[in-house]
Amino acid sequence: MNILILGSGGREHALAWAVMQNPKCDKLIVAPGNAGIAQIAECASLDIMDGAAVTVFVEENAIGFVIIGPEAPLASGVADRLRDAGVLVFGPSEAAARLEASKSFTKEVCDAAKAPTAGYGHFTDAQAAKAHIRKHGAPTVVKADGLAAGKGVIIAMNEDEALAAIDDMFGGAFGGAGAEVVIEEFMEGEEASLFVLVDGEDVLSIGSAQDHKRVGEGDTGPNTGGMGAYSPAPVLTPEIEARAMEEIVKPTMRIMAERGMPYQGVLYVGLMIKDGLPRLVEYNVRFGDPECQVLMMRLGAQALDLMQAAAEGRLQQAQVNWGDDHAITVVMAANGYPGAYEKGSQIKGLEALPEDSSNMVFHAGTARLDGAIVATGGRVLNVTARGDSLQEARDRAYAMADQIDWPAGFFRRDIGWRALD
Ligand code: AMP
Ligand code: GLY
Repeated sequence: MNILILGSGGREHALAWAVMQNPKCDKLIVAPGNAGIAQIAECASLDIMDGAAVTVFVEENAIGFVIIGPEAPLASGVADRLRDAGVLVFGPSEAAARLEASKSFTKEVCDAAKAPTAGYGHFTDAQAAKAHIRKHGAPTVVKADGLAAGKGVIIAMNEDEALAAIDDMFGGAFGGAGAEVVIEEFMEGEEASLFVLVDGEDVLSIGSAQDHKRVGEGDTGPNTGGMGAYSPAPVLTPEIEARAMEEIVKPTMRIMAERGMPYQGVLYVGLMIKDGLPRLVEYNVRFGDPECQVLMMRLGAQALDLMQAAAEGRLQQAQVNWGDDHAITVVMAANGYPGAYEKGSQIKGLEALPEDSSNMVFHAGTARLDGAIVATGGRVLNVTARGDSLQEARDRAYAMADQIDWPAGFFRRDIGWRALD
């Protein structure tokens, strides 16, 4: 089978790495890909937001299966265009992708499913939003309704911050994403995420993870896309996972099917856990980045079979073969990230590193320039390792990170601390 993966980050490198290990994969193309992906697969330049162009590419290259990595093409209906053309595709429809693209939509589906989540109000004008804040007080969470590249969430510790966030959002700080606003009850607890495959009807958990969103050690400083992650997440015990599946995932997926927008693909279930009870923080309609890197390291070749089973509606017969293993990924980012950073610095020392089923450096933002690997993004490398224990995986990952010669980059030294302390 010829396979096409859409995307260009560490998530897509990890997906490509797992897919390539499966003998079912005859040929893999990743569009647009990056310098690391180019070492294991063919990369093609293609506008992945253009469903018609992707469909033509699929026909020209005899692609039998398309895996869509990021949320943007999903939210703009690329999976629909492909399915209309009879192409097998992994990823939800535009309608179902609203579970990530609209926070008020998700809250309303949770209401209908009686799924535990934070209390909320949904507003289309600043006056009413401010009145809600004055009535309910702080701490509170103000969210732009639409896709804002992970930046549209303000945790306001006092009323003034919350009111200022309302002015920012309705003032256009997040563009169209902030034209509607959701104000949520602030939930305390520990966050973890669960990854669930869904085929429209059946669901299958494929693992848990925790990431570190803050840029600084000890989980301090500004938010980022994620500075590291590990799987499994010890806080998500089998009992809590079962509860999350029964009380949150299954009922919301049932509502989606009843409303004529069955969900198909991977569901990123962001949970807040307190006193043994999980509540939904958010859904994403894609794998997490960098959570995907640790999940792929643990799943290996079977990831392709599982994604294909989801796309073909065969999850009821599918099962995951788990090893009793742990994986961790450490993100190396450009100095300055998540603020302004420079592009084009050279990264050395990658060739000497091991590349096997327990050690892999996934590329998130790199290009090849005159034979050298250079940084092209904020998050640049995902140094990923597996082990019998989290400690062993972590030691391996940091041993690799220490060998990478990149003065223009940095990484956190404490990834995994919550699970190890
Ligand atoms: P979201 O984009 O909705 O996932 O929000 C980003 C981050 O903000 C989450 O990962 C949480 O850390 C935090 N967050 C979002 N909603 C809440 C909430 N209701 N209570 C506490 N923290 C939240
Ligand atoms: N690492 C968080 C996310 O992918 O949304």
